[in-house]
Amino acid sequence: MTILIIFETVEGQTRKISRFVENESRKSGQDVVLVDTANKTTPVSFAGVDKVILAAPVHERRHPKKFETFIADNLYKLESRETMLISVSLKAAFPECLEEARDFLIEMEMRTGLTPDVEALVAGAVRPSSYDYFATHIMRHVVLRGRNYDLDEGEHEFTDWKALATKLSKFLTAGTSSG
Ligand SMILES: Cc1cc2nc3c(=O)[nH]c(=O)nc-3n(C[C@H](O)[C@H](O)[C@H](O)COP(=O)(O)O)c2cc1C
Repeated sequence: MTILIIFETVEGQTRKISRFVENESRKSGQDVVLVDTANKTTPVSFAGVDKVILAAPVHERRHPKKFETFIADNLYKLESRETMLISVSLKAAFPECLEEARDFLIEMEMRTGLTPDVEALVAGAVRPSSYDYFATHIMRHVVLRGRNYDLDEGEHEFTDWKALATKLSKFLTAGTSSG
């Protein structure tokens, strides 16, 4: 089976997540094509692709516009295949914020028209050393406001790799004879 993984990242965590998904998929015997929409200079080929995994981060309450445009432009190709949509955000790291994390995903689905077969809200990471003044302010006073995490603690990865691997494995095996 051939899996196409399409992702976009701003600070790198969604790339790391996409590479993890790539490795896990290869380990389970799939052929994988990984595409970063930021580096895309030619149209993405869907020829021979059975399943598509889309991954993008939330920044200031939405996913990258270019990523949404890619989905909208390729909607009919995506709709004829099984799709898994991964939304990477910090809200997904906190159980009390999951509803808000889901809203970001629903808004993207409404704007693009895509109804994925599987949705995954995946917690991202904080990398304070790479933030400018504006990003630090947004993170401290908006994204992490009221949450039990202090940005001064430094870099932290909230991603639950085990949970992601389990969800991915279900997506990869769904509808195949291997169960
Ligand atoms: C400036 C900025 C704005 C952000 N806005 C949000 C947000 O609105 N909601 C949220 O849940 N996470 C937000 N985040 C957290 C990111 O989703 C998280 O850091 C994620 O890991 C980024 O993925 P990337 O490294 O692939 O870009 C924001 C992060 C930054 C730096």
